[in-house]
Amino acid sequence: MVAARITVNGKETPISPAAPHTTVLDFLRERGLTGTKEGCAEGECGACSVLVARPGVDKPTDWVAVNACLVPAAALDGQEVITSEGLATAGGPGTPAGLHPVQEEMAVRGGSQCGYCTPGFICSMAAEYYRPGRCAHAAPAGGTDCDGTSPGSADSGSTGFRSADPEHGPNGFDLHALSGNLCRCTGYRPIRDAAYAVGAPTGDDPLAQRREQSPPEPAATAYTRDDSTFLRPGTLADTLRLLREQPDAVVVAGSTDWGVEVNIRSRRARCVIAVDRLPELRELRVESDHIEIGAALTLTEIERRLDGSVPLLAELFPQFASRLIRNSATLGGNLGTGSPIGDSPPVLLALEASVLLAGADGEREVPLADYFTGYRQSVRRPGELIRAVRVPLPLSPVTAFHKIAKRRFDDISSVAVAFALDIEDGTVRKARIGLGGVAATPIRALATEAALEGEPWSARTVEAAAQVLRAQGTPMDDHRASAEYRSAMLGQSLLKLYAQTTEAVSS
Ligand code: FES
Ligand code: FES
Repeated sequence: MVAARITVNGKETPISPAAPHTTVLDFLRERGLTGTKEGCAEGECGACSVLVARPGVDKPTDWVAVNACLVPAAALDGQEVITSEGLATAGGPGTPAGLHPVQEEMAVRGGSQCGYCTPGFICSMAAEYYRPGRCAHAAPAGGTDCDGTSPGSADSGSTGFRSADPEHGPNGFDLHALSGNLCRCTGYRPIRDAAYAVGAPTGDDPLAQRREQSPPEPAATAYTRDDSTFLRPGTLADTLRLLREQPDAVVVAGSTDWGVEVNIRSRRARCVIAVDRLPELRELRVESDHIEIGAALTLTEIERRLDGSVPLLAELFPQFASRLIRNSATLGGNLGTGSPIGDSPPVLLALEASVLLAGADGEREVPLADYFTGYRQSVRRPGELIRAVRVPLPLSPVTAFHKIAKRRFDDISSVAVAFALDIEDGTVRKARIGLGGVAATPIRALATEAALEGEPWSARTVEAAAQVLRAQGTPMDDHRASAEYRSAMLGQSLLKLYAQTTEAVSS
């Protein structure tokens, strides 16, 4: 087996002597690449953002920004990483002092003061700069293309471009790309100005050209130091065998949860098994009666591949952590941790999804409503792996996801409610409601569903059902919200849905 190594800014760099739990952030900094910063070490500030070459959705390779503080270096064995230092040299001709076009825009528009957050912003911004199709979403006025350096484009407030989406710039830049990056001193307007001013990559830009070739294949990795090991098996069968042999192994996909445990709680595992590149866990299939979503596809991959065809999921994704986290996090991980406040379970419960569990004796399908058995517990047996999530078709046409949190984005929910209703001729034929944050597990609001089904979709019905919904679950007081507030928000959610949908249903 080839010694574990990462290609960093075009140079092959051995992972040894890093420990199996050493993060990409520490790995880079220990090798002098100190542009990558540590702010929080738990995926919430983006100071550690770097670019990784990953399988693309619209091109063979996408440059994807990830939190280097959460990913073990061993997980990137055989992969390609670009840091802010590497972007500077990849800037291409015409950029002063070797700056990348994104760095140039940040510099000239005052997007940096102390500079601590800047390399992270630069990497997140560069990932969006290289996103295939970004310029197709630009809304030029007067026939100008995605070239943000064109005359009149210097200030986003008076750019001469039009943008239909308030979260997208005139150059097609999706501001959600920066939702995981925090800055404490500059203020966000100059940073947004820089983001909205970047143009299209030139034809001789090496990182743009790199998108046309396949990304590195996942390397089968067995990396051991002292008494701990990081393993990346090549197939599902090998993974299941390893899980039988090592039932205490920690299974990771994007490491967005385990990385926090390692950094903040100093947890260590004798064996970590990575499943994020298993081909059997990375398929997305649309059949006549269901959609099957591989458990190891990242949320960003699912979002882009489904492209809005499951509206309830499309509503979930922007509210799920940040783009940096969604670039690594998976549905399998979100269900596998069993958190009662995970964002995806309420949505998947409302969609009546089921979980496909692969084990030594084959595969079994478990409705998600029967999956959770207690606080962070489930019916998943030792040695079993979530292979995929299945969403039945057809979808209910009236859906909504209400996440109640202290911040609009990049926050943990106090309460989350997902609705999926069939309303025909003014009557509720079917209601499915998933709740998070009001019990030890995500739950279905069965009593509220029963209160709605067969009833007219009217203010009277909704007010009565909202009363029922307020009493669902066993919410508790904690630092995020009181039990009373959580109950009140449940009822309010249904009233809000009614207000949002009444016009559409009656028309
Ligand atoms: Fe804050 Fe990594 S250091 S997200
Ligand atoms: Fe100082 Fe952003 S420039 S934290």
